[in-house]
Amino acid sequence: MRSRIVGTGSYLPAGVLTNFDLEKRMDTTDAWIRERTGIERRHIVAPGETTVDMAEHAARAALEAAGRSSAEVDLIVVGTCTPDLQFPNAGVMLQGRLGNLGCPALGVEAACSGFIYALSLADKFIRAGEAKLALAVGAESLSKITNYNDRGTAILFGDGAGAVLLAADEEPGILSTHLHADGSYLPLLRCSGGVSAGHAPGGDYITMAGSEVFKIAVNMLARAVDEALEANQVSRSDLDWLVPHQANIRIIQATARKLDLPLDRVIITVADHGNTSSASVPLALDIGVRDGRIKRGDLLLLEAFGGGLTWGSALVRY
Ligand code: UT7
Repeated sequence: MRSRIVGTGSYLPAGVLTNFDLEKRMDTTDAWIRERTGIERRHIVAPGETTVDMAEHAARAALEAAGRSSAEVDLIVVGTCTPDLQFPNAGVMLQGRLGNLGCPALGVEAACSGFIYALSLADKFIRAGEAKLALAVGAESLSKITNYNDRGTAILFGDGAGAVLLAADEEPGILSTHLHADGSYLPLLRCSGGVSAGHAPGGDYITMAGSEVFKIAVNMLARAVDEALEANQVSRSDLDWLVPHQANIRIIQATARKLDLPLDRVIITVADHGNTSSASVPLALDIGVRDGRIKRGDLLLLEAFGGGLTWGSALVRY
C-alpha cells in the first residue's frame, strides 16, 4: 500500500508586514530586502491567533478539497517549531478541534523541514498499513520568536499554515522521502531559549548566522535533490515542478539551476509569505494546486532545509 495526496489546504493570517513597515522599525530598506532575499511582505498572526488555529484552517481546507470528513482521518502529524503549548502537542490539539478522537496525533519539531518530516511519517504509517487517511500539516507563528530588533532575521520570517491529506492507494503518489539532520550545526541556527535549557533574558528568539547557513543550504539542497532523483531513477527533465522551501529567492534560484529547471517551473511564494518555516512547502504546494499550475499526474520535487540543521525531500506524483 502507498500514499497519495488527495487534498491540499493552506491559511495565511490577515495581518501583513511589508518591507516598508520594517524600514520604519529598523536599519534596513525595501531595496536591500528584495535584492538579498526576494521578500516583499509576510503575514503575521493577530493577537490571540495561534499556530493550531492556522493549522485547523489549513487542515479543514485540505479535507474540503478532497471531499472527505475529519471523522475519517486516522492519523495527524503536525510539523511546527512554534506550538501553542509545551503540551499537548500541536497534532493532538488539532485532533481535538477536528473531533476525530482516538487516532494517533503527533507534533514534529524539525524547524523548516517540519512539513517534510511530517509528510514522511504520515507516508510511512500508510505504507505500514497503520493509517488510511492522514493529515500532514506544517504551521508556524514565527513572529512569536522573531526578534524585531535584529535586522538579520526580522526581515525573513512570517506566519501561516499548509496541509495535505494523504490517502492509502495502490498507485504511489509519494514516491520517496529522504530525511536528514546534523546536530553539530546547532550554533548556526536556533531558538535562543526553551523550557528545559531556560528562557533567554529578554525572550526566546531565532538566532542565525545568515551567510553561513545560506552557503550550507545551497550545498545540502543540491545534494538532497540529486539523492531524490537518483533513488527513483528519475532525470531532471522528468520533473514538472519544484516546490521548494521559501527561505530566500537566491537559494531557490540555486536549486532550480542545479535541476536545470526554468523559474516558471518553480512554485515561488517567498515574495508574499517570507520564510514560514514548516508551513512554507505545503503553502506553496496548495497555491500551485489551487491556481491550476500543478495538475494531476505531475511529478513534483518538494525540499526543505532549516534549523538543526535538518533537511529533506519528497518526490511526489501528484
Ligand atoms: O529557513 C531556514 C534557513 N535559513 C536560511 O536559509 C537563511 C539563509 N540566509 C540568508 O537568507 C541570508 O544570509 C540573509 C538574507 C540572512 C542575509 O543576506 P546576506 O547576503 O548573506 O548578507 P550578510 O549577512 O552577508 O550581510 C551583508 C551586509 C552586512 O553589512 P556589511 O558587513 O557588509 O557592512 C550586513 O550587516 O548586509 C548587512 N545587512 C543588512 N542591511 C540592510 C544584514 N541584514 C541587513 C538588512 N538590511 N536587513
